[in-house]
Amino acid sequence: MKQILPSAPGPIGVFDSGYGGLTILSKIREALPQYDYIYLGDNARTPYGTRSFDIVYEFTLQAVTKLFEMGCHLVILACNTASAKALRSIQINDLPQLAPMRRVLGVIRPTVECIGSITQSRHIGVLATAGTIKSESYPLEVHKLFPDIQVSGEACPMWVPLVENNEAQGEGTDYFIRKYIDELLAKDKQIDTVILGCTHYPLLLPKIQQYMPTGITTVAQGELVGASLKDYLRRHTEIDKNCTKGGNCIYCTTEAEDKFIESASTFLNEEVTVKRISLEA
Ligand code: DGL
Repeated sequence: MKQILPSAPGPIGVFDSGYGGLTILSKIREALPQYDYIYLGDNARTPYGTRSFDIVYEFTLQAVTKLFEMGCHLVILACNTASAKALRSIQINDLPQLAPMRRVLGVIRPTVECIGSITQSRHIGVLATAGTIKSESYPLEVHKLFPDIQVSGEACPMWVPLVENNEAQGEGTDYFIRKYIDELLAKDKQIDTVILGCTHYPLLLPKIQQYMPTGITTVAQGELVGASLKDYLRRHTEIDKNCTKGGNCIYCTTEAEDKFIESASTFLNEEVTVKRISLEA
């Protein structure tokens, strides 16, 4: 197995299957503007949500390894599907040999930690990719912290492709937004809080809010992850000292650079430099 050699401090790596993680990156940068970041989108192989456990794990490990090789000591899986299907295996089985002093964190735990103080009815819903729902990661994590909360999940297989194909504002999108919200709420009439358990979904927020009944709180993850990372770095000075602080961000994609720039510009408010990289072993 590969071993990452010790290296100088570097940027924080933020990984997603595509553009969705940009919603997390922007909130992380709001909370922690002084750090340097490398964003990596595996746009050539997105979506991950419909892929098997083994493939998501393999792709995610390739991405984490690449980010370590690029100098990151800390990588955030800004993807629920990767957090659900690969994070634990990477943390337990791969990190001890690959890079024992480096860390990989996900987005599910920080989201779940906040949910106990949001729901009043103790009935919540999760909208996520088929992979995340099938993994049962949300109910498992919620029940570790809040055994009294009832969790219902609904897979939304059309939402990521709509975002990745720049159809977030498209007319046809309304049908699929309403469909999955209605199907989720039909499962449990007492749901008062809905987690958007996929980092692509904040890009659909205007339409999600349009169809979410009043009285139901929609929870997006970006701010929760930003606050949690801030707290993590404060508590883990040994990791923090290996994260450089110059306020810069580099974007990498496995697809063509021009395609990334064109699509990413819809949700980034700055000129970006993009580098194409390959993840295949
Ligand atoms: N943005 C990712 C997530 O949070 C996944 C999307 C996908 O590739 O299916 O689950």
